[in-house]
Amino acid sequence: MTKPVLVSGIQPSGRLHIGNFVGALRHFKELQDSGDYECLFFVADYHSITEPFRPDMKGKEVKDVVRMFLAAGLSPQKSTIFVQSHISAHTELAWIFSTLTPFGELSRMTQFKEKSVRQPSANIGLFTYPVLMAADILLYDTAVVPVGDDQLQHLEFTRTIARKFNAKFGKVFTEPKPLMTDIPRLMSLHDSEKKMSKSVPAGCLYLDDAPDDIRKKIASAVTDSGGKVRYSIKKGGGISNLMRIYGAFADLPMKDVEKVFEGKGYKEFKSALAELLIKKLSPFREARYSDKELEKVIAQGDKKARALADVKLTEVKKKIGLTR
Ligand code: TRP
Repeated sequence: MTKPVLVSGIQPSGRLHIGNFVGALRHFKELQDSGDYECLFFVADYHSITEPFRPDMKGKEVKDVVRMFLAAGLSPQKSTIFVQSHISAHTELAWIFSTLTPFGELSRMTQFKEKSVRQPSANIGLFTYPVLMAADILLYDTAVVPVGDDQLQHLEFTRTIARKFNAKFGKVFTEPKPLMTDIPRLMSLHDSEKKMSKSVPAGCLYLDDAPDDIRKKIASAVTDSGGKVRYSIKKGGGISNLMRIYGAFADLPMKDVEKVFEGKGYKEFKSALAELLIKKLSPFREARYSDKELEKVIAQGDKKARALADVKLTEVKKKIGLTR
């Protein structure tokens, strides 16, 4: 019996932050180690060029994602780790899918609407982003995709495309299901109303931050006026945000975090949080892989992914009558 296929991707755009760990990497490792899935993890570099970027940095950013994959415990023996742009079937299939996609459907995508207001001259790639994502997923007969809420709409779109293609040309694709993992919403350390984002570095904890930076950032993080380490979903607030970070890294529910800090003040809580982060992030800080090693991991994964993707693309082309 072959195992169900699991696929997920991370965009290479700047340094990864703790949101990438809490929302993706820690789950990727668990899913890989469960042995329940055939896992493919890739660097979504084509997606990342839909927003402003530096060509002289892109190669490093791609390798950095692979470095973080390895530091998180993903293993090239257990999982297929590859780079999207190295497998041309992704963009070829995306083209075919674009011909099945009504313009209006993409115009209604929440992420596109949000991103395009921020970028006055949004490009077509940003618009067709979900089409490429559908190709990423459907090329591998994917059963499950671990995603956060922000990508659910894209996954629903992927399922629609699969259904549409199958109905029109005959069954080729399986409809993937989202694998909802526990993803706490991490807010900026300086403004608990805003999402933690690498575009605001001061409020953002990077996976490879030095211990002193972690201490400084946590020490200056906003708290509340209450003075007690209590969690409130309704009110949100700085302390609840820090507690969510603590809970994610200590693997504890909020009521247990409250218990640990019962009768203690913010200062004590913050220093415990900083030390926990310093300890848990050490694999990322200390991840030393030479470019050669990373290139080898990528080449090995590319080869496996390409073999699967090419078979699927040929099948698709045949179905629509485009064969040599
Ligand atoms: N859009 C995803 C994100 O930004 C990245 C991504 C691209 C992805 N292709 C994918 C995730 C396929 C899962 C499956 O988070």
